[in-house]
Amino acid sequence: MAEHRFDHLVDTANGTISRELFVSDDVHRAEQEHLFSRAWLFIGHESQIPNPGDFFTSRMGEESVILCRDRASKVHVFLNTCRHRGMKVCRYDEGNTPLLTCPYHAWSYSLDGKLVGVPMYDKLYEGVLDRAAWSLIEVPQLANYKGAVFATWDPLAPPFEEYLGGARDHLDLVLDASEGRAGGTEVVGGIQKWIVPSNWKFGTENFMGDSYHNVSHRSVDLVGISPNARSGIKGRRASELPGTEHVWLSYPQGHGVHSLRLPVENEYVDAFRDEPEVEAYFRRCYDERKTRLGPERSRWVGLVGSIFPNLSFHGRQPHSLFVWHPHGPRSMEVWRFYLVDRAAPEPVKDFLRHYYMRYSGPGGMTEQDDMENWNYATAASSGTIARRYPYNYQQSMHASVSSAPGTMQTTQINEQNSRDFYRRWVDYVSNRDWNVLMGRDVL
Ligand code: FES
Ligand SMILES: [Fe+2]
Repeated sequence: MAEHRFDHLVDTANGTISRELFVSDDVHRAEQEHLFSRAWLFIGHESQIPNPGDFFTSRMGEESVILCRDRASKVHVFLNTCRHRGMKVCRYDEGNTPLLTCPYHAWSYSLDGKLVGVPMYDKLYEGVLDRAAWSLIEVPQLANYKGAVFATWDPLAPPFEEYLGGARDHLDLVLDASEGRAGGTEVVGGIQKWIVPSNWKFGTENFMGDSYHNVSHRSVDLVGISPNARSGIKGRRASELPGTEHVWLSYPQGHGVHSLRLPVENEYVDAFRDEPEVEAYFRRCYDERKTRLGPERSRWVGLVGSIFPNLSFHGRQPHSLFVWHPHGPRSMEVWRFYLVDRAAPEPVKDFLRHYYMRYSGPGGMTEQDDMENWNYATAASSGTIARRYPYNYQQSMHASVSSAPGTMQTTQINEQNSRDFYRRWVDYVSNRDWNVLMGRDVL
């Protein structure tokens, strides 16, 4: 494999990563050029666009895209730019419309992307403008995985499920409903969006399993915001069943997860004791899930994880998906999508929505701690002198073992997931081919 100018920034053998990854314009440009233009990216959830004509404006890297459902109910993802002079065709966050009409000169596109309206066409364009050739620019590949819509700009990217690899089992723990029904979740409430003066990779990395930073959440744990908080139970989430094992896995495609494995003999632990209706619902789901998935598979519970490059999730509490959109090298826009079981009673959804907001988002007590760390880390890494010194990634250097080809697993707090993520990251920004990016070259 040919040496690339970015290779020296990532030294996973010695456990060091250059600060340039988090502050440099040059690195940021390479990410836009070679990473966000090729990787599969999360766009939105189909529950956000249930009806024909529904749209949700999303992002792929730094570019705006439109996720929409056409009249035949087919889902599309288009670049949000007019083919005439580039005006943003859709300036709303979400809604329903029969047509996407450009605000500048009023070219109109149907929701399957076709250019259907050109003012004064007969007089000004007849015989010259081939409308069929000027549709909205559509992604060449789109995947709807259990309601979560992903897309890539690269026609050569492998199919989404191959891209997901073994991390799929853990993403399932997020997208499936609590009673184990495949893809039985939906987005509740609006999307929370906010800007953090930090590089996007701080988010991805934190949610690959950086439990080491738990100490920074000490104040919220002392306050106690868990669903059992009114019963005087401290912490951020409901308690774990004694004997639960924490498992970290990193995958050859660059994904990393931190999931829980319940003991063989397991039972429901009170998680919503202040709310009898919510508690009864989740107790029933717990038993149903065991029956549906069987004793082995039902032992796995999702905690956190990141799907390469910028989708992360909370599997259990607060159940959500979030995206770290780059906004230049030292800024990111965070989007949080909160999930609930589609079939849950309204009071359950409502209770969860309140808990999620207490925990997450710019006003959430837990998430504020993370923002503060990433914000100041970025500022303190940007100076000429600071940039000369790499970050340390030597934690649990030899703890992980191979559990499947290209997959590393451990039960101790580690930075293996991060090391493996950055190893794959450097392959993307160096524009290496899909054999390398999928880890096929080492399997
Ligand atoms: S830029 Fe859209 S119609 Fe001119
Ligand atoms: Fe955190």
